[in-house]
Amino acid sequence: MTRSRIAGMGHFVPDRVVTNGELSQHMETSDEWIHQRSGIRERRWVDGNVGASELAEPAARSALAEAERTPADVDLILFATLSPDLNFPGSGCLLGARLGIPGIAAMDIRTQCTGFLYSLATADAMVRSGMAKCVLVIGSEVHSSGLDISTRGRDVSVLFGDGAGAAVVVASDDTSMLLDHELHADGRYAEILMVEVPASRLQPRLTKEMMDEGRHYPKMDGKAVFKHAVEKLPALVHSILGRNGYTLDDVAVLVPHQANMRINELVARNLGFPPERVVHNIQKYGNTTAASIPIALHEAVLEGRIRKGDLVLLAGLGAGLTWGASLVRW
Ligand SMILES: CC(C)(COP(=O)(O)OP(=O)(O)OC[C@H]1O[C@@H](n2cnc3c(N)ncnc32)[C@H](O)[C@@H]1OP(=O)(O)O)[C@@H](O)C(=O)NCCC(=O)NCCS
Repeated sequence: MTRSRIAGMGHFVPDRVVTNGELSQHMETSDEWIHQRSGIRERRWVDGNVGASELAEPAARSALAEAERTPADVDLILFATLSPDLNFPGSGCLLGARLGIPGIAAMDIRTQCTGFLYSLATADAMVRSGMAKCVLVIGSEVHSSGLDISTRGRDVSVLFGDGAGAAVVVASDDTSMLLDHELHADGRYAEILMVEVPASRLQPRLTKEMMDEGRHYPKMDGKAVFKHAVEKLPALVHSILGRNGYTLDDVAVLVPHQANMRINELVARNLGFPPERVVHNIQKYGNTTAASIPIALHEAVLEGRIRKGDLVLLAGLGAGLTWGASLVRW
C-alpha cells in the first residue's frame, strides 16, 4: 500500500518582536504574570496589513525547496487557519494565487489549534488513496489584528502570536512515513474558546454595539481549556501509541501544540515522559494556533533533535473543542 511522508518543511514568523514588557504598556499585565502562567516571554506580530496567506507564502516556498519540489508539483493545498485573510474565499485559494499555481485544488481546514494535525491526516489519506501526489500542508495565523490589546482582553491577548508553518506530503519511498492519526472534536464545549461575531446565526451579523462590547474578540475560559488539555492529551497519547503497538519509551520526541508551557509540562509529567524529549518554543512565539506544531517540529528538525528513523509524536488540543495526534516515523 502507498504510504506518505513529510518530504520537507518550512516556517516563517514576522520580524516584529513583541515582548511582555511592551504589552504591559498597553494593559495591566507584567512579564512575571505572563511568564509564570504560560511560559511566554515574547511573540511575533505582523506590522501593518498582512494576512495569513502572505505569512504562509515564505513558509510554503521553504518547505517546497527542502522537499526538492516546486510550486508546479503541488496538486493540493490544505490551509489550516482560524484567522483567514477573508471570511471567504479561503486562504488556500489566496495562497495558490500567490504561488502562481492556478487551477490547483485548495481548501481551508478550520479546526483551530489542531488544524495542522487534521490537515496532515487529510494529506496522508489523499496521498495514500492516490487522489493527490504532492500536498502542501499549511498552518498560518495572524492573531494580532484580532486581539483586544487592552486590560479587558489581557487574559487572551498576551497568549497569542503570529506565524506560519508548512509541510510537503508526498508518497513514501523508504521507511519515513506518517504512521497514524487520531482526531477528535466535541462541540458541546465550543463556547469555552470562541470568537462570537460576525456570526451567520445573528441578524445582522455585526453591529457597532457588538463591537463596543468587544464581542468580535476571542473569549476564553482559560481554566476550562487547561483542564480539558491535561485530561484529554495523556489519554490520546496512550491511545494512539497503544493501537500502533508502541509505548512512550519508543517515542524519541513529543511535539505538543504550544498553548501553554504549564499544560505541556503537566502532560509530560502525567505521562511520565522525560521533559528533555518534549519540544517547547512558546517562550519565543506564544500560541500560534495552527502554525504552532509545524513551527516547533521544523525547528526541532533544524536543531538536530529529530533524526531519520525517530518515532515522533505530535499532539494538541484547542478550540472546538478539537484534539488530535499524529504518529510519524521520521
Ligand atoms: C489563561 C491562563 C494563563 C490564566 O491562568 P490562571 O492560572 O487560570 O489565572 P488565574 O486564575 O491565576 O488568574 C486570573 C487573574 O489574573 C488576571 N489576569 C488575567 N490575565 C492577566 C494578564 N495578562 N496579566 C495580569 N493579570 C491577568 C485575571 O483578571 C484574574 O484576576 P482576578 O483573580 O483578580 O479576577 C490559563 O488559564 C491558561 O493558560 N489556560 C489555557 C489557555 C489555553 O491554552 N488557551 C489556548 C488553547 S489552544
